Parts: sequence; C-alpha cells; structure tokens
Amino acid sequence: MEDFLWWRDGVIYQVYPRSFVDSNGDGFGDLRGIIAKLDYLAFLRIDGLWLSPIYPSPDKDFGYDVADHTAVDPRYGTMEDFDTLVAEAHKRGIRVILDMVLNHTSDQHPWFVESRSSREDPKRDWYLWQEGPNNWASVFGGSGWVYDEATGQYYFHMFLKEQPDLNWQNPEVRQAQLEVFRFWLERGVDGFRLDVFNAYFKHPGFEDNPSRFGLRRFDRQIHVNDMDRPEMMPLLGELRSLLDSYLERYSVGEPFMPTIEKTAHYAGEGKLHTAFHFFYDDMSLIPKWGANHFRRQMLELGKASGGVYLPALAMNNHDSTRTASRYCRGEDDANARIAMALLLTVRGTPFIYYGEEIGMRNISLSRKEIMDPVGRYYWPVIKGRDGCRAPMQWNDSPQAGFSTGKPWLKLHPDYTKRNVAAQENDASSMLNFTRRLIALRKEYRALRDGGIIFLEPPQKDVLAYLRLSPKGTILVGLNFSNKSRKLDLPPGDWQPLLTTHGRDVNISSEMELAPNEVSLLKSS
Ligand code: GLC
Repeated sequence: MEDFLWWRDGVIYQVYPRSFVDSNGDGFGDLRGIIAKLDYLAFLRIDGLWLSPIYPSPDKDFGYDVADHTAVDPRYGTMEDFDTLVAEAHKRGIRVILDMVLNHTSDQHPWFVESRSSREDPKRDWYLWQEGPNNWASVFGGSGWVYDEATGQYYFHMFLKEQPDLNWQNPEVRQAQLEVFRFWLERGVDGFRLDVFNAYFKHPGFEDNPSRFGLRRFDRQIHVNDMDRPEMMPLLGELRSLLDSYLERYSVGEPFMPTIEKTAHYAGEGKLHTAFHFFYDDMSLIPKWGANHFRRQMLELGKASGGVYLPALAMNNHDSTRTASRYCRGEDDANARIAMALLLTVRGTPFIYYGEEIGMRNISLSRKEIMDPVGRYYWPVIKGRDGCRAPMQWNDSPQAGFSTGKPWLKLHPDYTKRNVAAQENDASSMLNFTRRLIALRKEYRALRDGGIIFLEPPQKDVLAYLRLSPKGTILVGLNFSNKSRKLDLPPGDWQPLLTTHGRDVNISSEMELAPNEVSLLKSS
C-alpha cells in the first residue's frame, strides 16, 4: 500500500494484559498468552498492539502505579517473554506500543522510597513536597495532599495517595524519564501511549486553582495550576526529537480531562504524533448517542486539527463503560455495529479495545466485588471501572478459554454464546463485520487518509459522509434510528461494499436506509 504509515493509517488494538489470555493457569493474563493470540490479531489485520502497563506494580491502581518502569512484572512473565512478544508481533507486521505512566509512580518505586526517607535525600525534590497543602485535589477523592509523619511534610498525588506525582520541573526527573523511553526504544518498542501526560507539570509556586461549580471536589476547580502548563510544550519537542531519532516510532497522548482543543493543541509537528479523542463521556449520566452528536464532534475535530494530523479515536478503553453496554439493549448489537463502523470509517486512527470486536458487555459487580479504587470511593454515584476489564471471551469452555484457573475478575455470563470461536464461524457476526471494515480500510485509501465531507443538509437520524481520494469516493451511511430513514445520495452509480442489510444492487439518487443500517457504498 502506497505511503502506508502504521500509526497513522493502521488500526490499533488495546490489550489489558491481565484480562486477555492466561497461559499458566494462575487466573491472570500474561505475555505468553498474548503471544499465543498474535495470530488472532493478525487475522483481524491489526497494525499496532497497545499494552496497558506490564511493569511491576503493587496494583493499587491496577498497574497504573508503577514500581519500576524498566522491568516486567513477574505475573506477566519475563523480559525474555517481552522480547519474544515484540519479535513475534513484528513478524506479523504488528507494532508494539507501551503505556508510559510518568506523571506519578507507585509509592513503592525506589525513587519515592528514597525521596520519602529524608528531607535531605538527593531525590527529595523528585516529588512534590510542601510544608502545607494548597487546594489541589485528587481525582480519586479528597485533597491531593498527604501528610508524611516521618519527615513532617505533605506530598501531592493527583490520583491515589499510593501514586505520588513526580516533579517534572526538576531536570534530573526529566532526564530519568527520557531514559525510560530510550530503554524501551532500544528493545524495539514502536510507540508509547502517554498516560495523563498533560498533568506532568505543576505550577512551580503551587498556586491554588480557581473554583467553579462541579459535582466532585476535583471538578469544582479550574485546573490551570495542576495541569496543561506551558512547560509541557518544550518537553514534547524534546520527546519528539528522541522518537524521531529512531525509525517510525510513535507517541499518542491521553489528554487528562480531554477536550477537542487539548487533543489538537498537543499533536502535530514537533509535538506528539497524535492525541486521543474519546467518543464517550463517562461523566454524563445518560450516554449521548445520535447522528448529530457524532457529526458535531467530527466537525469540531476537523476544524481544531486544521486537517494537519489525524486524531487517535476511541469508543472505549479500560477506563470507560464498554460501547455495547452504553449503546445497546440486551444482546442486540445493532448500535455497537454503528459505533464500530463510525470508528473505522471517519477521519482518524481507530483504537479497538479488546473484546469490542465481539461486542463484549460490561460485567456487573456488587459493592463488595468492586476492586477499582474509584468505584470504592465514589460508590454508588460512580461504580468504578472493573466492569469493562473482565476476561476476554475466547470460547464457550469453562473460563471462556481465558484461563484454566480462577480468573482474577469474573467473566461475563454471556460468554457461552458471545465468544470469538462462535463468531469466527458466523458470517454475520460482529467479529466478521469488524474484520470486513478493517479489510476495507486496507483496500481503500479514501477510508484511511481521504478527506471527509458530511452530507448536507443532515437528514434526521442519519450520519452520512463521503471519504474522498483521487482513486474514488466512498459513502458511509449510518442510520441511528430503529425506523427506516431516507438518504439522498450525491449523483453517481453507488455500488454496495458492505452493508448490514444484504444489499447487492447499485443505487442512484435516493436510498432507504433500514432501521439501524450501516452501509458503505463506492462510486464507480
Ligand atoms: C489514566 C489511566 C487510568 C489511571 C490513571 C492514573 O487515566 O487510563 O487507568 O487510573 O491514568 O494513572
């Protein structure tokens, strides 16, 4: 394929390693398990594999509290397993992306252990120590400051108290962090997802945040002094030069408290390669759905990025409610298909979260089953993120083919019917639908980097757009309603490429979209 750049034009798949496949029966997913499923990812025609953290961690925040950035947690395997994973993935044309959690460390990280040991320790200033707290809060609840008896000062943590924030203003910290990138780059890692990167820098004078109206203490502040600081830009430039000194390496930022403006601001030449746009907003109690809702987001993204770079797009991830649980009723996948089609055909680089391709649902947990600290703190207002982290559903055998032992988190009971093996054998399954969409992206350049034009005027409940390239135009029609809807087509002889409603004849001028239909048409 001409000019195909894996991180821009490809499809990326997120694996939450503890929940993907367990190769040794301890109920905990591991690297050997992932290696065993690389052929499955190749069958899907995935170009990049993002692994949520695999580093040693006391697991207070399920791996996002890192105790050593340059090692593999023995529960996942060894460094040798990791090297094998990279080599085997590369053999199949799959690139490997690691999760870089550098805003904070675990309180068990040797840097923090040292920093905490005395006010005079050389690493004292590697974290944020103060005589008294200001008003900065923790996202996971309460004040962001904890008093440490041993040395009589407070340290700041934006997340859990076991996740102290690093002091990025300190040049030694900056150097040490860039070394972490270098370590993995030298091992052949292709890219990095930067966890809450826009919170790295804090106001050097620790000024209070101004207040505003909001639900949680954290939301009742305007975060001008504890995130999105100007110091971020030169750092991104430095990081980009480091990545560019290797071949085809990549960075994608997770903007914390995301907005379209942030996504655009941090990505592009001399900055990150791209940043995420999330199609969901888990803070809104009623999930937003509809043609207009998504149309507006894409138009704003287009305007904000000035067409210069492609945003990283995600319908869900390990922090959100799964698409199918958010938008579908019962076992009906119609809306999950619309969401998948949108993700894979609008302008941007799609990220698929493991299990999304088979329409996996969230599991429900009782209060005592909740493990996620967010759920424990805010229950019942926010029930936490365990629901979307259940083991992958491979087949209908006991433990869904995930493990031979007791899974670390319970399975969704629908696994006996909803699983990869069953869907592989069903031509009309969500899995085969996803696979066909990915294959079309590979086949038609218009779907990868073509321009996008939304059809005007918007027709009720229908999201319709053209993807354009010099070699041809593709029209995507998505009917968000469970009633039929009319769609006026631009002049042409439109040939169906993929449709959820078995069309096989060419269409001109007007088309009646069936309830919840997804159709991709090509002009010939
Ligand atoms: C990111 C991660 C989330 C984690 C948080 C703190 O938002 O996606 O899982 O809890 O950062 O590291």
